[in-house]
Amino acid sequence: MKIKNICCIGAGYVGGPTMSVIALKCPHININVVDANQDKINAWNGPIDKLPVFEPGLSEVIEKTRNRNLFFSTNIDENIEKAEMIFMAVNTPTKTEGEGAGMAADLRYIESCARDIAKYSKSDKIVIEKSTLPVRTAEKIKKILNSENKIVNFEILSNPEFLAEGTAIEDLFKSDRVLIGGDDSETGQRAVQALVSIYSNWIPKEKILTTNVWSSELAKLASNAMLAQRISSINSLSALCEKTGANIDELSKAIGMDHRIGSKFLKTSVGFGGSCFQKDILNLVYLCKYYGLNEVAEYWHQVVKINNYQKERFAQKVIDHFDGTLTGKKIAILGWAFKAKTNDSRESAAIKVSETLFKNGASLLIYDPKVQKKTIVNDIESIWEVKCDFQDRRIEIVDKLANTYHCDVFVILTEWEEFKKINLDREKIIFDGRNISENKNKISIGK
Ligand code: NAD
Ligand code: UGA
Repeated sequence: MKIKNICCIGAGYVGGPTMSVIALKCPHININVVDANQDKINAWNGPIDKLPVFEPGLSEVIEKTRNRNLFFSTNIDENIEKAEMIFMAVNTPTKTEGEGAGMAADLRYIESCARDIAKYSKSDKIVIEKSTLPVRTAEKIKKILNSENKIVNFEILSNPEFLAEGTAIEDLFKSDRVLIGGDDSETGQRAVQALVSIYSNWIPKEKILTTNVWSSELAKLASNAMLAQRISSINSLSALCEKTGANIDELSKAIGMDHRIGSKFLKTSVGFGGSCFQKDILNLVYLCKYYGLNEVAEYWHQVVKINNYQKERFAQKVIDHFDGTLTGKKIAILGWAFKAKTNDSRESAAIKVSETLFKNGASLLIYDPKVQKKTIVNDIESIWEVKCDFQDRRIEIVDKLANTYHCDVFVILTEWEEFKKINLDREKIIFDGRNISENKNKISIGK
C-alpha cells in the first residue's frame, strides 16, 4: 500500500518531533499533525524560536518541512478522512480517579481518538499506537473502531516511541531500533510493511523489528521500567556510599566498565523525572496486579519507591544543614526541568524537592534557562496547591542566573551546563543534586 497522507493526532513532545522527522525524510508524504489545543497549534505555526517544544535540532527540521509537507492544525475530522495512515500520539497519564487511580494509565484521550477515527473515516485506515499503552490496548481500540464504524477496515499497529527528550531529533535520526507490532493476518502484515517502508527511508532494515502487537506494547513499558530500574539501583547505592566513604561516581564507573552491564544510565541524581518513567512503571505494576502477579508488581513498585526516597533524602540534607529550620533562609533553586536540554518540567524532581523546602519555611529564588515562568507558576499552584502571588516574596522566579546570587545556599536540580561553574566566590554551599558542580564547596549525592 502506498501511503500519501498521514494524520497524527497529538502535537506534543512525541507527535511534533516524530512527524517533523518523518516529513523531512519522506518528502513524498503529506503529514498533518492535529491537536485539540488551539494555542499549541498556533505555537507550532508561530515563530521558530517559540515552538511549544524545546528540543535541540527541532527548529531546523521544522524550518525545512513546515508548510512544505508538514502541517499543523485543529482540523481533526478533515485530516482523519483524507489520511491512509493515522498515528495516535496523545497523552496517557496516570489515572487520577476511578478504578486503578494513581496507577493505571488513563486511556480517555486514546479512546476519544479512536471514536474520532471511527466517526470521520470513510475509507480503510492503518491506525498506529504511538502513545505508550498498557499491553492489550489494541484490543480495546479495535472494539471501539469496529463497533462505531462498520464500513471501513481498520488495521491496528503498535509502534511505540523510544526517543528521550533533549535528544529527540538525534534519537529519531539514529534510532537503536524501530519496533512495529502487527496482526498475523495478511492485511495485518500488509499494514506492517506499509509502515516499514516509511521508516526504511532512513532507518537500516536490520534495526526495524517486527513483532506481534502484544510484544510491541509490552516492550515499551518494559524498556522504560528497565531504564528507570538502573537509576533507582544506582541511587539506592548512593545512600550506602554516603555512609561508608565509597564514592558513587567511582562506583558507577567501575560497575559500568563491565561490558555486560554497560556505562549508560548509571548517573546518580536527585531522582528521575519526566512524564513517562513513573507513570509507565505504575502502569506495569497495575497490570501485574490485575493478572494476580503480586510479587512481580511489588518488585517493580520498589523502583518508584526508591525514586521518591531519593528526592526526600536530598531535601532532608538541606534541612539538616540548617539544623531543621529553614525559616528566613533564601534558597536558590537551579533548574526546574526534569533534565537538561528540555523545557519540560513534568514530574521533575525539582518540583518535589523545592516543595519540601518551601513547606519547611524557606524562601525560594527559582531559575531555569528554558522552562517558562508561567509553567513554573502552574506547577506550583497545581502540585503544591500554593497560590503563587509573589506578594510576600517567598517565591521569586528570576530570568537570569546572576539574580540568584544573593541566596544563602544553591540547590542544583537540573544538570544545565551553566550551573557547573556557579558560586565562584566559594563562600556559599551548593547542594548538588546532579553531581555536576566544579566548585569545592558543595554537598553532593553519594559522596
Ligand atoms: P503531550 O502531552 O506533550 O502531547 C499530547 C497532545 O495530545 C496534547 O497536545 C493534547 O492536547 C493532545 N490531545 C489529547 N487528546 C486529544 C484528542 N482527543 N484529540 C486531539 N488532540 C488530543 O504528550 P507526549 O509527551 O507527546 O506523550 C504522548 C505519548 O507518547 C504518551 O503516551 C507518552 O507516554 C508517550 N511517549 C512520550 C515520550 C516523551 O519523551 N515525552 C517519549 C516516548 C513516548
Ligand atoms: C525516557 C527514555 O529514556 C526514552 O527511551 C523513552 O522513550 C521516554 O522516557 C518515554 O517513554 O517518555 P526521557 O524521560 O525523555 O526518556 O529522558 P531520560 O533521558 O530517560 O531521563 C529520565 C530521567 O532520568 C531524567 O530526570 C534524568 O535526569 C534521569 N536520569 C537519567 C538519571 O537520573 N540518571 C541517568 O543515568 C539517566
